Amino acid sequence: MHIPELANDVAEVLIGEEQIRQKVIELGARLSADYLGRELTLVSVLKGSLPFMADLMRAISIPVTIDLMEVSSYGGTATETSGLVRILKDLSASIEGRDVLVVEDIIDTGLTLNYLVRYLKGKNPRSLRICTLLDKPARRLVEIPIDYRGFEIPDQFVVGYGLDYGERYRNLPYIGVLKPEVYGGT
Ligand code: IMP
Repeated sequence: MHIPELANDVAEVLIGEEQIRQKVIELGARLSADYLGRELTLVSVLKGSLPFMADLMRAISIPVTIDLMEVSSYGGTATETSGLVRILKDLSASIEGRDVLVVEDIIDTGLTLNYLVRYLKGKNPRSLRICTLLDKPARRLVEIPIDYRGFEIPDQFVVGYGLDYGERYRNLPYIGVLKPEVYGGT
């Protein structure tokens, strides 16, 4: 197994640190305006959304509460989801009657979020909207109404800023594409 500098495995930086920072500020300002006078509950989906959630909440100026869920899909591979979702960590507080914003790292096929949205709606929030940093529309299998979108990206597997390949690369501060040989094994 090789443990080199992570950045050496990156072929191309798709979205740089400064670009991410600007976008998060923009989204935070829009959310603060749209939910003015209300209190927002941010529900983030671990683990990939962690950096986005941490940055986004600090860009919002209205009161927020946060909660974290973790889901996994059965039978997928490192780069594909299967659509069968298992909840590994549930909400820790009720969202009934609350304005909820799901904070996602990336929407790819949409299968994970489709499941999650139905699950959360069953808990009777006052409102439920979706905020995703990245949107990969080319691979969508189910329609997802995205209320807040950071960047639309092409059909490429990306890592960094929370996103992983085999649990690695989450700590890269930008979003990049790996060199083809990295996918070939160790
Ligand atoms: P979906 O169910 O296909 O929309 O996939 C959602 C999840 O798959 C995301 O929350 C990510 O964890 C993972 N995923 C999808 N595309 C990528 C990618 O390009 N890089 C890293 N993870 C991804």
